[in-house]
Amino acid sequence: MANPTPLAGKVALITGAARGIGKAIAERYAKEGAHVVIGDLNEAGAIATAEALGAEHTGIALDVTRQESIDQAMATIVRRYGRIDILVNNAGIFDLAPTVEITHERYRRVFAVNVEGLLFTLQAAAKQMIAQGKGGKIINFASQAGRRGEALVALYCASKAAVISITQSTGLDLIKYGINVNAIAPGVVDNEHWDDVDRRFAEYEHLQPGEKKRTVGASVPFGRMARPEEIGGLAVFLASSDADYIVSQTYNIDGGNWMS
Ligand SMILES: NC(=O)c1ccc[n+]([C@@H]2O[C@H](COP(=O)([O-])OP(=O)(O)OC[C@H]3O[C@@H](n4cnc5c(N)ncnc54)[C@H](O)[C@@H]3O)[C@@H](O)[C@H]2O)c1
Repeated sequence: MANPTPLAGKVALITGAARGIGKAIAERYAKEGAHVVIGDLNEAGAIATAEALGAEHTGIALDVTRQESIDQAMATIVRRYGRIDILVNNAGIFDLAPTVEITHERYRRVFAVNVEGLLFTLQAAAKQMIAQGKGGKIINFASQAGRRGEALVALYCASKAAVISITQSTGLDLIKYGINVNAIAPGVVDNEHWDDVDRRFAEYEHLQPGEKKRTVGASVPFGRMARPEEIGGLAVFLASSDADYIVSQTYNIDGGNWMS
């Protein structure tokens, strides 16, 4: 019989969870009995989200592009809860530009968060999990964008392809410690992030506000974009002991947008 509370008592850090998909996962994890730490560049948002979940949850400032911020976050978690069991590496940023307008600065910005930040947050969590000696679960956020090219989206697509690759290699390395590294590749999720994406497409493709969202949503085989809370079930499963034998995989959750 399935465990009715698979995350009961587990300590989970979710990065970038002040809003969007991360926030929805935080709410779901809290319902499943986990102690949730919300780490976000937006400290006020992280604290507000944690407070809304209840006193056993924590909101902290975290900038995944800075090693000292990652180390500080990990120290705060260990001080308060004594350990970390789950990392959801969700923080990510988007960029959109025609190839001829890509700059070194924009490249560095996207890769600093989506790739470097994700890798070194994973490393810090893995070190702590190895020291604890009881394994752990790490869930990275990729995207359907990491499985294909998209005109105007070279940087973001490449960064998410790197997430899929990092998930494969680190998963193979860390499973000997009982640490499962896997990833989730959402399709299109209707939230503030996509409102921003819509605005940027409108600028470059001369569209009306909301038009890109409508056409993208209508082209999903399921018939619409995902709601953030629809990602939570997969994030719970991958953090549970039911996923112990799953290593280095990236799961699509995209209404049928991409098949692999
Ligand atoms: N929304 C979608 O359609 C979609 C699709 C595929 C993949 N994704 C991925 O899912 C993840 C969550 O996306 P979302 O739509 O909820 O995004 P979002 O923009 O709504 O939220 C991202 C959060 O990350 C935080 N953040 C940004 N830089 C940070 C940093 N340096 N350190 C810590 N936190 C930082 C932001 O403050 C924000 O709260 C991202 O990795 C994104 O690339 C989203």
